[in-house]
Amino acid sequence: MFKRSFFIFVFLTFLFSLLFSAQMGKYKYKDFDRAKRCGMCHREIYQEWKSSMMAKSFTHAWDDVEYFKLALPHALKFSKVAGVKGGCIACHSPIAFLTGDIPPKSPDKKTRANEGVSCEVCHSITGTTEKVPYNFSFTVKPGDIKQGPRKNIDAPHGVYYSTFLRSPEFCATCHDEASPYGAWVKSTYREWKSSPYAKEGVRCQDCHMYYGPGNVAGGKFRKDMAHHVFHGAHFRNKLAGAVDVAIYTKRKRVQVGRKVKLRVELFNGKVGHYIPSGSTEERMLWLEVWAIDSKGHKFFIPVSKKGFKGEDYTISNSKILSYQAMGKILNIKGFKGLKRDGDLPDGARIFRKPFLDPDGNMTVCQWYTAKNTLVDYRIGPRETKIENYLWKVPENIAPGKVKIVASLYYSLVPSSVGKFLKLPKSEYEPMLVNKTEITLNILK
Ligand code: HEC
Ligand code: HEC
Ligand code: HEC
Ligand code: HEC
Ligand code: HEC
Repeated sequence: MFKRSFFIFVFLTFLFSLLFSAQMGKYKYKDFDRAKRCGMCHREIYQEWKSSMMAKSFTHAWDDVEYFKLALPHALKFSKVAGVKGGCIACHSPIAFLTGDIPPKSPDKKTRANEGVSCEVCHSITGTTEKVPYNFSFTVKPGDIKQGPRKNIDAPHGVYYSTFLRSPEFCATCHDEASPYGAWVKSTYREWKSSPYAKEGVRCQDCHMYYGPGNVAGGKFRKDMAHHVFHGAHFRNKLAGAVDVAIYTKRKRVQVGRKVKLRVELFNGKVGHYIPSGSTEERMLWLEVWAIDSKGHKFFIPVSKKGFKGEDYTISNSKILSYQAMGKILNIKGFKGLKRDGDLPDGARIFRKPFLDPDGNMTVCQWYTAKNTLVDYRIGPRETKIENYLWKVPENIAPGKVKIVASLYYSLVPSSVGKFLKLPKSEYEPMLVNKTEITLNILK
């Protein structure tokens, strides 16, 4: 029995290592043009791409730190995750992967790995080896013929009309990911696929590439050009208003010392997948409700428990430590972990899906995730979440008008992790998604 499961284990590990080395080293850098070259003619598109995360997918601070300080050293000493040495790069700097430049030099060395997800990556992708794509399962054909979204194009280079480029499955080749333990650690495509948007034919491209007037190349204008913005959670304007927030109460006049019931409704009417999605392991979306009296004193109102399985992960608690695996990877003796919920006040509702490492601790290391199906309390596409509050009006509040403010915040990384790894503040400071308020009349 033991023998059999051992062989299955070895076989699965072998399969994973195959997957993680599928096309590594088949090409040379000179097989791929630099984005700058494409930009000589496709100027507008180049400008848009350059300021998107696609152009920074290898160079931006958190990617640099997570790969070079955590994932790579971990891959070099622990065989189970050895595949991520090339795996991370296959999505974050596909050309470096395809040319076998693994591990690449760090971004400050300014090698071609810095080009990230460049024009040539996407416009060389011809299809996928998987039925439902994930884990960089794209196939490429670099060369003078570019994969394009339209038929009969007259260009100085060849253009092959590709329906794959226009499909969400194209995005799925990089946006869905399974860990070496077989856990789905990115599933934006799969979330979208089972959403109403997929049935309505609203693609990833329709929400992340804007269609409008544009200068396609040189002097060629088009009224419905695909703009290469790719705005996501790194852009406050994309997050702002992504979820609607409303707050209600039956009684607006309340006596000090009495209890008042509040109800907050959150509707995800704009995001075509869960929010948060993508790097779910490290995203924080949370709701804070505060009462502010006429003298400006603030009182935090904790959320009422619902009692579902795993709910403790969804209510902030400053006593709980997590992310112990980072201590193991960084060889820090006696590392007890970091605050799971960063600087949140106790009792805020967090919309998250916790990722657990093989020791059962919550982790931001998606490649070291053994399990993440315990609870999923994110907000699904077109889903409404209702949160209840029972607030006992405190004796020390100033009577008169009291504002009840419900704010929904988002941060890319828990602040405790961001500070510990010395990331730029922009990586972990809270961004406001939405906010609403009502006024109560407090009687003494
Ligand atoms: C010398 C100028 C020039 C350069 C350099 C150039 N292109 Fe083009 N490209 C064009 C022109 C002109 C068209 C045709 C535009 C049209 O009629 O829609 C075109 C069309 C395309 C299309 C198809 C557009 C469509 O509407 O279907 C794609 C995709 C494309 N180019 C990608 C690239 C990529 C990627 C690079 C860099 C490797 C690149 N191009 C470099 C001039 C150029
Ligand atoms: C109906 C519009 C819509 C569709 C369809 C859609 N998205 Fe999004 N997406 C959004 C909005 C709005 C946000 C910003 C809010 C957020 O971060 O969740 C977003 C955010 C993202 C993010 C950042 C998520 C995070 O938490 O870091 C990624 C990555 C993403 N989308 C990829 C995709 C992919 C891939 C698809 C197709 C499988 C897709 N999107 C389909 C609207 C959409
Ligand atoms: C993440 C993948 C990705 C990257 C990176 C990317 N593109 Fe595209 N590009 C697409 C997709 C997808 C479309 C087609 C969208 C559609 O029609 O729905 C497209 C369309 C185009 C078109 C045709 C526009 C039109 O509406 O006719 C041109 C030209 C183009 N890309 C050039 C470039 C250039 C130049 C770069 C680099 C500066 C670049 N692309 C980077 C995915 C990408
Ligand atoms: C070759 C791999 C690859 C393909 C194909 C790809 N992406 Fe991405 N995408 C990435 C990587 C890597 C990042 C992460 C960049 C970072 O933050 O390091 C990313 C980030 C994003 C983001 C988040 C940006 C933000 O501001 O947070 C959005 C939105 C997105 N991609 C949309 C798309 C859509 C839509 C498609 C399909 C048209 C697509 N991607 C195809 C690799 C890819
Ligand atoms: C299957 C493709 C894929 C693989 C493999 C992959 N990533 Fe990513 N990674 C992405 C995409 C797509 C995003 C963007 C998701 C989002 O915006 O939420 C991303 C986001 C990130 C981010 C978050 C960027 C930010 O600013 O929030 C970091 C850091 C990161 N990846 C590092 C890594 C490391 C390290 C590895 C290897 C252990 C790795 N990735 C493996 C596709 C991949």
